[in-house]
Amino acid sequence: MKVRTPSLSASWFQREDRRVSRARLGILISGRGSNMEALLQAAADPAWPCEPTLVLSNRPNAGGLEKARSFGVMATALDHKIYGKDREAFERAVDAELRAAGVELIALAGFMRVLTPWFVNAWAGKLINIHPSLLPKYPGVDTHKRALAAGDAVHGCTVHQVTAGVDEGPVIGQAEIDVLAGDTEDTLAARVLKAEHLLYPRCLAAVARKGGTRVAETVIADGVEVRLFAPH
Ligand code: GRF
Repeated sequence: MKVRTPSLSASWFQREDRRVSRARLGILISGRGSNMEALLQAAADPAWPCEPTLVLSNRPNAGGLEKARSFGVMATALDHKIYGKDREAFERAVDAELRAAGVELIALAGFMRVLTPWFVNAWAGKLINIHPSLLPKYPGVDTHKRALAAGDAVHGCTVHQVTAGVDEGPVIGQAEIDVLAGDTEDTLAARVLKAEHLLYPRCLAAVARKGGTRVAETVIADGVEVRLFAPH
């Protein structure tokens, strides 16, 4: 059963405990980095248990790189094209950057490369992704279009552990919004994105604290009701 709380729940962030140790967080992006920005904003709270340490993009022109630097976070690009078809060679270079920065936990935030089993295994349990659907519904692309085509009444996003299968790993948390009459892909995507920005920091906090996500809450963000929950 979902328990609704009126405001941000202490169980997600444990705001009352200011003496948290922080997991060094690497954030992998490919584009604008709005989820990355939500994580960097969360890190302004000393009670949030992750320390954004490195932002890495596979696309040198990703808008998120400059945004990360404006937060004072080290940001770098490794162009996957340089490695041609050798995906693992690209990933070994990414891995080396992450390890050199002392990264302990990785958040994929719009990182548009499917990772090989080598990388996934190397970071097993420490590799987290956000996906714009209520998994197991709609793995892969065009999630908003598919939710509309199916006539779904609710849609949302999922934060999950990354395993070898694409968008298949164990769910850490989900956030749900209502689909409205007249919604288009764009209007739906915009509301799901608000949900993503609420969900991702909470789930990473739970992972860094090694559990404790048995929380449900409803947040109103810019007039959008976002219902957040974690599997039991
Ligand atoms: C988000 O919708 C995320 O769920 C998906 O890619 C998009 C990235 O957007 N994996 P942003 O770069 O974080 O704004």
